[in-house]
Amino acid sequence: MHRFHYVGNSLHCESVELAAVARLYGTPTYVYSAATVEDNYRRLAGSLDGLDVQVCYAMKANSSLALLRLFANLGAAFDVVSGGELRRVLAAGAKVNRSVFAGVGKTEAEIRFALESGIFALHAESEPELARINHVAGQLGRKAAVGIRVNPDVDARTHAKITTGKSENKFGIPLKFAAAAYAAAAKLPHLELKGVQMHIGSQLTEVGPFVEAVEKIAPLARQLQRDFGITYFSLGGGIGVVYQDALASGAAAWWDALPADRRPITPEAYGAALKPLLQPLGLKLLLEPGRFMVGNAGVLLSRVEYLKRGQGKNFLILDAAMNDLVRPAMYDAYHEIVPLQRDTSRRALMADIVGPICESGDCFATDRTVQELGEGEYVAFLSAGAYGHVMAGRYNSRPMPAEVLVRGSSFELVNARESFEQMVAGERVPAWLK
Ligand code: LLP
Repeated sequence: MHRFHYVGNSLHCESVELAAVARLYGTPTYVYSAATVEDNYRRLAGSLDGLDVQVCYAMKANSSLALLRLFANLGAAFDVVSGGELRRVLAAGAKVNRSVFAGVGKTEAEIRFALESGIFALHAESEPELARINHVAGQLGRKAAVGIRVNPDVDARTHAKITTGKSENKFGIPLKFAAAAYAAAAKLPHLELKGVQMHIGSQLTEVGPFVEAVEKIAPLARQLQRDFGITYFSLGGGIGVVYQDALASGAAAWWDALPADRRPITPEAYGAALKPLLQPLGLKLLLEPGRFMVGNAGVLLSRVEYLKRGQGKNFLILDAAMNDLVRPAMYDAYHEIVPLQRDTSRRALMADIVGPICESGDCFATDRTVQELGEGEYVAFLSAGAYGHVMAGRYNSRPMPAEVLVRGSSFELVNARESFEQMVAGERVPAWLK
């Protein structure tokens, strides 16, 4: 469920007319709904009701300082994957003492920074990393709390580029070597073994793979609790959002009308399936959702530059491009694209919806049917709140897009569009070229 809907014929985010945002701040601009984030947080945090749960928002999905602060206010901690993300949490005015640090390639400097900042635990992904964490903690004269990411070799049945829990993926220590890795880590003097971690992939649409992974790891978790006194089990993230029917899925009625076996995963179904497996363990549970928290809480606004009628093909050319939203080019991802001003009297147009970047891959949708649109009209890409702005770049010297946060009937620019001066601030032409 989300708060993007038509009021009459104009698309709104909560009580804000999106065309007004586009006119004021220009396009491409990301717009986020605070109420949708809050709903998502509360639903997921409550999904394992009765168990000891800490949500560590996977901020890689959207690390806007404003959203980080919103999450901190809700009681969330964070799942960070770099020194930069850690600095963002601190810059947003949040603490990191309930947060975790993931990733296969943590540098010594990042480990030191995390320990000095008081991170709750580092999630180690290999034996050499455990040795490095031990070394850095020793230099600081303290113990480092760690969890080991275990790779359960489960097929998450999602896109190959976002599957992480198969043995051929670079992540975690294989389940069959995990007990030995813990035993070896227990001998390192500056480590404190605190937990076990898994993350099998992203944009999962069914609970089956989560159940399979937890069933595989639960016996190990029991053993680690007994042998090393671990206190938590981090279940990772991965709950998917609706992309195909994104607009309709904002309404409860859309979910209610679907037969249970065709309904995409919900926090309630996730909780119901996992609770019986997790409750007997008696461990604290960490959830690391990224996409579920923010995916359907954001849209990307863009302006139509041209409708080009080609030979047997129409091209709707927008001012947003693959540098602003790379998911379609990178993962063949589907994003629903809707007009900000709906006009049912217009003819339908079948077109490729593309950006202005000079390569054919800069295409958001092929043979998509939308209402006929012309220069100066606006569209919104739905379900663009996760892995949208964070994956944006500057290809073709296009500035980083702006970000706006809506709450109720008010909205605020939370990240200004990048200026040309900011874009080239670090660059120099050497004197010998002048
Ligand atoms: N925890 C760990 C250890 C992760 O690696 C990830 C995501 C998450 C949590 C959060 O997963 P989520 O709840 O968002 O599915 N850029 C891709 C998605 C990459 C996900 C990487 N890891 C996309 O746009 O689809």
